[in-house]
Amino acid sequence: MPKNAEGHLVPGRTTPMRTVPARIPRPEYVGKATPNEPDGTGDLYTAEELERLRRSCRIAADCLEMLEEHVAPGVTTDRLDELAHDFLVAHDAYPSTLGYRGFAKSSCTSLNEVICHGIPDDTVLEDGDILNIDVTAYFEGMHGDTNRMYLVGDVDEEGRRLVDVTREAMLRGIKAARPGREVNVIGRVIEKYAGRFGFESVRDYTGHGVGAAFHTGLIVPHYDAAPDYATVMEPGMVFTIEPMLVTGSQDWESWDDGWTIVTRDRSRCAQFEHTVFIGEDGPELLTLPSSGRQP
Ligand code: MF3
Ligand code: CO
Ligand code: CO
Repeated sequence: MPKNAEGHLVPGRTTPMRTVPARIPRPEYVGKATPNEPDGTGDLYTAEELERLRRSCRIAADCLEMLEEHVAPGVTTDRLDELAHDFLVAHDAYPSTLGYRGFAKSSCTSLNEVICHGIPDDTVLEDGDILNIDVTAYFEGMHGDTNRMYLVGDVDEEGRRLVDVTREAMLRGIKAARPGREVNVIGRVIEKYAGRFGFESVRDYTGHGVGAAFHTGLIVPHYDAAPDYATVMEPGMVFTIEPMLVTGSQDWESWDDGWTIVTRDRSRCAQFEHTVFIGEDGPELLTLPSSGRQP
């Protein structure tokens, strides 16, 4: 089925768009072709806003943790999306991707050679797959954005290394995010670390300001972009760090669905994402689950 003769992924079939009860507030862009964002409200948050952000971030992180036990050979990415959707709604959150610029699912599911923005469909997970699930929860007016990798059954050595190195690259990028430094230090650290293992860090998809808007306009590159992207980090800032590392070349192509981004050479990609708060004393992960366990 959704793999062709060469074992390459092909688009599957999607289910109808899921609904969200009317009592759950929607982001402004739902039902419109394009969002108002960037909304110009900036990337700095007050203590009160930060408390709301923490709650959205926690819901998104708890959702990813919940999915852990459901990721297994034989499960479809659409089933995982249904579980994510139901979890967010049960916590009175709106799945931010649902109706964002025409995206019609409550999560992104990016499998093997998919770099990002994979659409949940009837693709059946197989032993040895690596899967990224990206969930954003909109709650009390704030978006909390996070993603992580899942190993499906037994994954080969290279796949496991790719996942481990990507997680560590993200964590090192986060550690480098401190007040007074330029945003471009983050990508420098990530790209350097990836290179040590022979992996490329994807340039064309980036981290972003997040909070009151899903994407505020602030861009966080995952490569050494200096002297560009020189915005100085300040206490109170919030943005995502979400590096994508590939085993082969980062050249990509988009599927006809207008969303799914795959490597041209079909080499595999891994990604991890946290929403990060810049405090006076350094970075803080907002997208940690209630359990405190880090994936
Ligand atoms: N959550 C993704 C990010 O990290 C954005 C997905 S947009 C979608 O920025 F439309 F593809 F869902
Ligand atoms: Co993001
Ligand atoms: Co995301």
